[in-house]
Amino acid sequence: MRDFYPEDMVSRNVLFDAWKNASRAFGFAEYDACVVETFELLKRKAGEEIVEQIYDFRDKKGRRLALRPEMTPTLARMVASRFSSLKFPLKWFTIAQCFRYERMSRGRKREHYQWNLDIVGEDSVAAEAEVIATAVNALGILGLGGDDFSIRFSSRRILGELLCKQGIPDKYHAATFLALDKKGKISDGDIEAMLADAGLGKKEIERVFTVLEISALGEVERILEKKSPSLGEIRRFMELADRQGIGQILEFDISVVRGLTYYTGIVFEAFDTERRFRAILGGGRYDNLLKDIGGRSLTGVGLGFGDVVIDEILAKKSNHSGKRKSSGIIYVGFMEEAQRLAAVSLATEMRKHGHRVDLALRAEKAKSFFARASRESGSEAVYLGPDDIAAGEARVKNLADRTERKVTL
Ligand code: HAM
Repeated sequence: MRDFYPEDMVSRNVLFDAWKNASRAFGFAEYDACVVETFELLKRKAGEEIVEQIYDFRDKKGRRLALRPEMTPTLARMVASRFSSLKFPLKWFTIAQCFRYERMSRGRKREHYQWNLDIVGEDSVAAEAEVIATAVNALGILGLGGDDFSIRFSSRRILGELLCKQGIPDKYHAATFLALDKKGKISDGDIEAMLADAGLGKKEIERVFTVLEISALGEVERILEKKSPSLGEIRRFMELADRQGIGQILEFDISVVRGLTYYTGIVFEAFDTERRFRAILGGGRYDNLLKDIGGRSLTGVGLGFGDVVIDEILAKKSNHSGKRKSSGIIYVGFMEEAQRLAAVSLATEMRKHGHRVDLALRAEKAKSFFARASRESGSEAVYLGPDDIAAGEARVKNLADRTERKVTL
């Protein structure tokens, strides 16, 4: 798990600000919750990796608690408990620290921050288009555009219809989705073993693999009837996405399934164009989760966007603006103990006027003061000596462009 030193917080805040600004620009309201949940809320039927990765423990009363591995069950719990007073559809966002006992790899840590965007109570694909457009907006704020990433999407409903066409009954679909999510991550042989464990015969397993050979939406259109409701949804989704200006970033890919069981409809994930990293973000529609958790039927659409992969991508692109951003801080220093009180007054006055001020804690030589102040780019510095006190004024130096302005003491 990570420690964040002040220099790490600079880039972390740039990312969090981008997430928050995009959320607000698209009308999402912020929420938060405790990182500890009951294990009961987080556990689901076996088979999902995320449930195996939960950090759980017992408190002094023997209750089984856990650090959340994701935010979605918590969101569902919160919505369910205020169901009658909340107005739907609701659009909520949060930046949640999540914990997963994962095998550590590039882009995967045991703890990460995850921006969550969710729309609850909207049946139409307008919700999918809206959450994706918000995430694309945040990526734009971070300096990433269509050349840097793409968003691949599919639909579990379409995949379900295609599996039915291949004679694979509904009862096998959930396990098949989880196995297919492993495509490219584990060997095809291991996927076959997972499917066999789920109860599929040899012939059925072969047919599952033929579905994955579909490479374009046109092929799906040829296989499924024109009136297929899930195909209609996809067309509507693409139309809306086009209008949101994100159509060219979207790519249909039948192999996108996602590894969480609660997704029911459109699912999506974003990758860097060169596919050097793991998914930047992932999400989809979950139409049964609220019913499973809170007993009330409500549809949901959302995504999770972690801080780890995006950091690597931004570092690679080396435009992490946070590192270069000017700090706008004013350093106030003094030469001798005799100028301390004047320095304190000056700093206090500047702070009252809304400036960010770093006041020296001890007298220091001009050379070391200016060296300290110059470490942060875009800062200003005032250094008080006996002459300044005598004149009743001092100079505030802009360390970037070497300009000066006078202040009365
Ligand atoms: P997820 O696909 O498991 O979905 O995670 C979403 C994102 O969180 C990933 O794409 C990645 O950016 C980040 N992430 C996940 N695990 C780790 C890890 N161990 N280390 C670093 N980053 C990680 C969910 O969690 C869903 N609850 C998202 C969602 C919200 N769906 C609907 N609403």
